[in-house]
Amino acid sequence: MFTDKNILLVISGGIAAYKSLALIRLIKKAGGRVSCILTKGGEQFVTPLSVAALSEAPVYTDLFSLKDETEMGHIRLAREADAIVVAPASANMIARLAGGFAQDLASTCLLAADSPIMIAPAMNPVMWNNPAVQDNISTLKRRGMHIMPPASGDMACGETGEGRLPEAEDLFAEIERFFFAPKPLNGKHALVTAGPTYEPIDPVRFIGNHSSGKQGYAIAHALRQAGATVTLISGPTALQTPHGVKRIDIQSAEDMLSAAESALPADIAICSAAVADWTPVHIADSKIKKQASGEIPALNLRENPDILKTLANHKKRPRIVIGFAAETNDLIANAQAKIKKKNCDYICANDVSGAQVFGAEDNHVHLISARGVTEWPRMSKDGVAQKITDLIIEELG
Ligand code: C5P
Repeated sequence: MFTDKNILLVISGGIAAYKSLALIRLIKKAGGRVSCILTKGGEQFVTPLSVAALSEAPVYTDLFSLKDETEMGHIRLAREADAIVVAPASANMIARLAGGFAQDLASTCLLAADSPIMIAPAMNPVMWNNPAVQDNISTLKRRGMHIMPPASGDMACGETGEGRLPEAEDLFAEIERFFFAPKPLNGKHALVTAGPTYEPIDPVRFIGNHSSGKQGYAIAHALRQAGATVTLISGPTALQTPHGVKRIDIQSAEDMLSAAESALPADIAICSAAVADWTPVHIADSKIKKQASGEIPALNLRENPDILKTLANHKKRPRIVIGFAAETNDLIANAQAKIKKKNCDYICANDVSGAQVFGAEDNHVHLISARGVTEWPRMSKDGVAQKITDLIIEELG
C-alpha cells in the first residue's frame, strides 16, 4: 500500500516526538518515502540529524531557508505529498492550523496542502480537554482533516488521562487505513435520513422530538469514508455536516419524503430519522392566540407518509434498505413485524426503555433481518455506523 507513496510527516513539539522516529522506520520498511518537517518545538525533542538519517532524506525546518527553498519550496513540499501526517500535533500546532496561520514552514505547508491530512494530537490531558483545544479540533474535523484520537494512560508529566500519542505501530495502522484502504463503496450512492422532523402547527409552533441526529450523521460519515456518494436528508440538528457529504435540510416529514424521492436513484437507503407519526391537518396562518374564554384549541392530526416504507416499495427501490426502530418492549418481535410491514431488508432495533439513547454517544443495537437476529454489544454511534457500513460492503460486494 505504501509503495511509491510520499508521506509528509510534520513533527511538532512534544515529548512523544520520539515515536515519530519509529513511525518513519515503519513507513520506510513498508516501501513508502517520508519527507519530514520539524517545527522549532519538535527540534527540542528530536534532532534534524536523527530524522534525516532515518528518513534518508533532507529534513525541512525553516520557512525562509535559502537552501530548503532552492531544493524544494514549501508549496512543492506540500503538493508532492500523497498524504500528510502531523504527529505529534501539539496544542499550539493545532491552534495554528485552525487559525490558518502561516508563520513557520509547518503551518505554511499545511495551509498550501491539497492532500488529505491526518492529525495525531499529543498533550497533557487537561490541555486536551480544554474547550479551546476541543473547538480547534472540531474546526479541523469540519474541514475534513482526520483526527486520530489520543490514547489514555500515564503521561510524561506525571498525570494520567487522555492525551498520549498512540504507539508508532498504531499510528502506522491508522495511516494505512485512513489514506490507503480500498474504498469499496466507490460509485455507490447512499441516501441517509437523520434527525427529527418538525411538524408545523402555526408560524411559531411545531410538533417535534428529541432526536439528536448523531447516529444518522455517523452513518453518513462512515459511508463516505468507504467511498460512497452520500446524500444526508436531515431534520433540524445542531450537528456539523460530515466532510464530503451532501446535506439537504428539511423540516417536516413531507419535505423529507420529497427530498428522499428526488435523491433517487440510490443503491443504499438508511432511514435513521425520527419521523413524526402525525402532523396537524391544518397549519394556522397566524399564531394561535389564547382564548379569553380559556378554551383550549383542539389539534387535529393526520398520519404522515412513511418514508422508509415508501422507499422500500418504490419502483426505484435501492438495493439495500435499512430502518431503525426504537422500542420499549418486545424489541425483537416488534422489529420483525416492522421488516414485513415496511418491506425493508434490515432493522436496527434499540431498546429505549432503560438507558438514554436520544442524544447519547453510544447505542445498543440488535440487527434484525428476515434471516435472524444479531445482537451487537453496546458501542459508540460511530462504531454502530462502521458495523452497518461493513454489512453494506459485504452485501454489495
Ligand atoms: O414505525 P416506526 O416509526 O417505529 O419505524 C421506524 C423506522 O421507520 C425508522 O427507520 C424511521 O426512520 C422510519 N420512518 C419513516 N417515516 C415515518 C415513520 C418512520 O421513514 N413516517
